[in-house]
This record gives sequence, C-alpha cells and structure tokens, in this order.
Amino acid sequence: MVRRILFSMAFILFAFMVMQCKHETDFIDFPANPDLPAPSGSCDPDSVYFVNSVLPLLKSSCAMSGCHDLGTARSGIMMTDYYRIKITGEVKPGNSGGSKLYKVLSKSGESKMPPSPYAELSDDQKAIIAKWIDQGARYNYCTGECNPDNYTFSAVIYPIISVNCKGCHSGNQPSGGIKLDDYASIKSVADNGALYGSVAHLAGYSQMPKDGIKLSECNINQIKNWIDNGAPNN
Ligand code: HEC
Repeated sequence: MVRRILFSMAFILFAFMVMQCKHETDFIDFPANPDLPAPSGSCDPDSVYFVNSVLPLLKSSCAMSGCHDLGTARSGIMMTDYYRIKITGEVKPGNSGGSKLYKVLSKSGESKMPPSPYAELSDDQKAIIAKWIDQGARYNYCTGECNPDNYTFSAVIYPIISVNCKGCHSGNQPSGGIKLDDYASIKSVADNGALYGSVAHLAGYSQMPKDGIKLSECNINQIKNWIDNGAPNN
C-alpha cells in the first residue's frame, strides 16, 4: 500500500515536471519580436487594434523588469508580444469575462494586477482590453487617420500617454520619479523639454517608451505641435 502511494506520488511529480518543461518550450516557435501584421488602411473607431492600443498598454503596465517581461517573467506570464500575451494571459477570444488577462484587472488584494504600488488600470484602459478580447483577440494593426494637426490634450495627447506611458509613470513609485497621469504632471515634463526629448529620442534624454516600440512619427509630431502651441489643457 505504502509502495503504491509512493509510486503514485512519484508519478504525479514526474507528470508535473514534464508539464513544466512543456510549458517552457512552448514558445520556441514564437519570436520575441514577431513581424507586425499587415496594417489595415484606416482605423475603424469601433475597433480595438492590438498593435496600436493593447500591446503598448500591456507593455507599459505589466512588462516592466521584475514583472512580466521575458527575462524575469513571474509565474511564466509574459506580457511582451501577441503570442505570449494570448497564451500566458489565458485569453479566450470573444469572452473577456472568461479570460484571465481581463479578470485579474479587477481582482482585490494580492491577485489584482498590476499589484501595489503600481496604479490600477483606469476604466478606459480596462475597456480597451475587454473590447479587444470580445472582438476576437486578433493580431490587428491599423495605420492612417492620424493627423499631426490634431493635437488637443483630451482627445489626442492624453490617450497617447495613457496607453504608452502611464503604466510605468503612475502609482506610488513612478519610474524615474516622473508621473504622467494627469494634465499637470504631463505639462511639467512638456515644459522642461523632457517629454519631447524622450519620445523623439533626442540626444541627452532616455528613450521612451522604455524598451518599447517608438511612437509613430505622427504621434511624435502631435506631441510636438501641442507643446509648441503652449501645451494647453484643451
Ligand atoms: C516600461 C516602463 C516605462 C515606459 C512604458 C515609459 N517609461 Fe519613461 N521612464 C522609465 C524609466 C525607468 C525612467 C528613468 C530613466 C531611465 O531608466 O531611462 C523613465 C524616464 C522618463 C523621462 C525622463 C527622461 C530624461 O531623460 O530625463 C521621461 C520624460 C519619460 N520617461 C517619459 C515617458 C513617456 C512620454 C513615455 C510614453 C511615450 C514613457 N516614458 C514610457 C520607464 C518607462
């Protein structure tokens, strides 16, 4: 009897180890920087696009070093690219309510993501994730439609920063000691030159978004035009 129990335990342990190994090798076929999907010509305002909105949001809110990046991924969860986000985030296309990636955003206590001291995602940010999953969790991307002459703070500048920067630059311990979570905080880095310097990758500034994809030329020009026009709260 004892033998049998020992044998079963050994078997379970063995099966568990095999599963662990499989888990690690699952991603051999998936490059860390997969090719971008072909962009659709224009951006449908009713659609959420993975490359435009979901990836930068997850990279800045979850893929910080020590959290869910490639090197130090906690519990194997990697928020770094389409495949890893979909698989390790247990995304069920069409069903945000059944997807771990979405559910953890509204949990309480220690299982809530991002955990303290990082800021909880805003309702708008959670809605981006939910809508993308409910629309099929596709690897989609759109270009076009961006106009550098549109640069109001509320409709253009704040959404760019909210998706691409706020994850690292909010909460009790914002990266670099810089908060970018409301007009006043954004205006102060606009005024001292660091906002444009960092997104345009000018010499002397840290390149932002850190470890992420550079903003599009159009987005960078929108930020420049907004600053050149006095960085108003409009
Ligand atoms: C993954 C985390 C992360 C993301 C995303 C991120 N930052 Fe940063 N940021 C940092 C860190 C960390 C620093 C501190 C300096 C460094 O380590 O390079 C920093 C520094 C800065 C600085 C000061 C740079 C300087 O040279 O004085 C500015 C301005 C800034 N970030 C703006 C942004 C903007 C704008 C975005 C979005 C377009 C952004 N950051 C996205 C982590 C991030």
